[in-house]
Amino acid sequence: MLSITDLNLQYGSKYIFRDVSVQIHTGDRVGLAGVNGSGKSTLLRIMCGEQDVDPGIVNRAAWFTVAYLPQEVSVDLGDRSLYAEAESAFDEVIARQEELERVSEDLALFDAGDPAIEGLLVRQGDLQHLLEGSDIFRIRPQVERVLFGLGFCAADLDREVRSFSGGWIMRLLLAKLLLKRPALLLLDEPTNHLDLDSLTWLEEFLLGYQGSMVIISHDRAFLDRVTSTTWELSLGRLSVFRGNYSHYLVEKAQRLELERAAYDNQQAMIRQSERFITRFRAKSTKAKQVQSRVKQLDKLERLELSETDRTIRFTFPPAAPSGRDVLHLDKVGKQYQGRTVFDDVTFSLQRGDKLAVVGVNGAGKTTLLKILAGMVEAEGTIKLGHNVILSYFGQHQAQELAGDLTIVDTVYHTAVDMTITQVRSLLGAFLFSGDEVEKQVRVLSGGEKSWVALAKMLVRPANLMLLDEPTNHLDMSSQEILQEAMAQYEGTIIVVSHNRFFVNSFVNKVL
Ligand SMILES: Nc1ncnc2c1ncn2[C@@H]1O[C@H](COP(=O)(O)OP(=O)(O)OP(=O)(O)O)[C@@H](O)[C@H]1O
Ligand SMILES: [Mg+2]
Repeated sequence: MLSITDLNLQYGSKYIFRDVSVQIHTGDRVGLAGVNGSGKSTLLRIMCGEQDVDPGIVNRAAWFTVAYLPQEVSVDLGDRSLYAEAESAFDEVIARQEELERVSEDLALFDAGDPAIEGLLVRQGDLQHLLEGSDIFRIRPQVERVLFGLGFCAADLDREVRSFSGGWIMRLLLAKLLLKRPALLLLDEPTNHLDLDSLTWLEEFLLGYQGSMVIISHDRAFLDRVTSTTWELSLGRLSVFRGNYSHYLVEKAQRLELERAAYDNQQAMIRQSERFITRFRAKSTKAKQVQSRVKQLDKLERLELSETDRTIRFTFPPAAPSGRDVLHLDKVGKQYQGRTVFDDVTFSLQRGDKLAVVGVNGAGKTTLLKILAGMVEAEGTIKLGHNVILSYFGQHQAQELAGDLTIVDTVYHTAVDMTITQVRSLLGAFLFSGDEVEKQVRVLSGGEKSWVALAKMLVRPANLMLLDEPTNHLDMSSQEILQEAMAQYEGTIIVVSHNRFFVNSFVNKVL
């Protein structure tokens, strides 16, 4: 239905794709795995035609419609209501329905045998195929089902789209996509902005979905439930594994083990032959055997171990310690346009406390962190302790980093008492080496942007760190490294995270 043939792409010295060929068939449910920066989002953009490649590389049937949810959005949706915006998902279907009616009327005008008929018949067939399964006579119930499933409520329907937060805009885009019922759904980290209820609803929806899908997610449980095939991107190569994510991990381990065993065997054989050759080279009675061993070695196809993806490494450097009392909040509250987000928040933290802030979407977690970081005004009193130095990691790095700066400039501007050479070597630990540090932040992958934001925290040591959903775009190994760094950290931490597994290992308090 959709095929990619011999796709190649290279940025600087980094191969993103080397001779990648792959197909999607009707009903395929694919999980796309790979470390941060391996090319997952790029592959989806190429599949949906948003990123150009040479003609002939991507082929798909005319009726095979594709819809794509990007990893990050910065859209201006204007002043339409939520309902109107969601309903516009049907614009295309309605236009097709109208075209189908016109084509049918035109067909009636021609005599059988007229050469014009053939083109019209083909178009009629395509349109019928495209319209299969869509129901334009019951639009409202469909729109409401999807919006409510994704967590919107009845009162939201008439609200202007621009009054919603970024996380909710993502949900709206997801809703529109699901309503279009394309033959192929391409979803790039759809669960990042969902709470548990909406996540469960999305799982159910996707399980009942008739079309094909390719999904990128760092949420293993979600992938396991929804997908049945796994594609892995690693160092420019795409490998296909039958089975869901957990199955892929097992099979990959087995493949690596087999490869290792075959490699070890061959190495042992080579060493043995070489010893034989050195030992008997001078002996004329063994000349023939030596010759044959030499030939055998020459002809041997040498096995190589696959390279493995590199991982980031870092720890948070210690800052001069703060006083014992770090933070005291008394009756802190926040209202937006008369709506109370929270009130009467009162708590204290002491040096070394690690606090997780949890709650449903819209509970005000991000707002609370921004208030503490001094970015948003609030009622009540907030007292910072003696010598507290604070740093902040925001939820949306795409918006918080300046896209036109290079990586090295971004980090160097924040750094205190560091040379550019020291900054470069620090960036090496985040896998930006050589020329790569001169890349503009705009082109970076979601995870790479998070790495840059983390690097910024390292070059200006703090003793109170505020982090808002730091694991959102991170791959598994980066999450582990961050988890370890947060556990080792001697200062105080306030972290917003919906990732229970992640926070469990280091927090001592929960708000
Ligand atoms: N225009 C560009 N110029 C240079 N490098 C680019 C450009 N566009 C993308 N890249 C690089 O291509 C690589 C793949 O990016 P992509 O966004 O596809 O990764 P990803 O697998 O989706 O990662 P993540 O899990 O972090 O979202 C990254 O290293 C990125 O920096
Ligand atoms: Mg991506």
